Amino acid sequence: MQEQIIILLKNSQDFLSGEEISAKLNISRAGIWKYIQELRRIGYKIQAFPHLGYKLISTPDKLLPWEITRDLGTKIIGCQMHCYPSVGSTMDEAFQLGVSGLPEGLVVCAETQNKGRGRMGRSWVSPKGKGIYMSVILRPQVQLSEVSKITLLSAVALCEAVIKVSGVPARIKWPNDILVGNKKLAGILTELSAEVDRVRFLVAGLGINVNTLASQLPPQATSLRIEAKKSFVRTEILKEILRSFDQRYLELKQNGFEPVLKRWKELSATLGKQVRLSDAGRVIEGEAYGLAPDGGLLIRDREGVTIKKMSGDVVTVG
Ligand code: BTN
Repeated sequence: MQEQIIILLKNSQDFLSGEEISAKLNISRAGIWKYIQELRRIGYKIQAFPHLGYKLISTPDKLLPWEITRDLGTKIIGCQMHCYPSVGSTMDEAFQLGVSGLPEGLVVCAETQNKGRGRMGRSWVSPKGKGIYMSVILRPQVQLSEVSKITLLSAVALCEAVIKVSGVPARIKWPNDILVGNKKLAGILTELSAEVDRVRFLVAGLGINVNTLASQLPPQATSLRIEAKKSFVRTEILKEILRSFDQRYLELKQNGFEPVLKRWKELSATLGKQVRLSDAGRVIEGEAYGLAPDGGLLIRDREGVTIKKMSGDVVTVG
């Protein structure tokens, strides 16, 4: 009901009388007042005047399911939104929902995480109300060996959305870090539930530093606010990420992986560079000269030997 009242207020340029709301939503005037109080508690600024009615003055900078799904227009991604003020990690929340059989496209997001995690056992700093911390449940028909395709798809979708809404020249560092220059703006973590040869479901976790201040970030990280020198409405960015993710995911289902691969290459900050890749204690140096059809990074070492890597941590050298 709160959601419906907000939609009515948003669609009305001026004051909306209690009578009109009452008639449209079939609730009593006392009921409206109760919901208006709840909306104010959430952070909406709503003016109320006797004889005139109610007017929405401002919307809070919070990730709210009804704000995110309003005019979203996606087919799969964002079909359900679970938004929390605080969680340990959105990965764990999404995983539990995945185990209980909830559909692909369901998104969990939180204002803050107190145990946000990244790749390779790292932590992900998640200051309250500053970034977007979200996890998406996916149930693609892929083999275990194809999971990295979904990771690359997530990176393409995220990178495209960031460029579109902010104009910041984001690029992808293999496999799925989003960089601006050589600083990290966003990261993706993919976890899965699988049998020996079958993926039950995947959780793609996306962390984006949006309005985060430099003092809240590790030195090698950046935020949209730092790069663009202005603040962003996180809901707008999140919606664009969901749209872009949806388009790329539908495209994958219809046309296969080729279009994602092509776009990944165009947005790459890694290809053509001399790199050092560390994986499980092993280090390889050479030119990152290509991407294999399954998303593996092709490195040509000093002896001219080609090595394909499916995981690891890359830094550019030289
Ligand atoms: C990385 O670059 O190492 C991946 C970072 C992924 C962070 C996101 S934030 C939302 C989701 N929940 C987590 O705990 N991690 C991912």
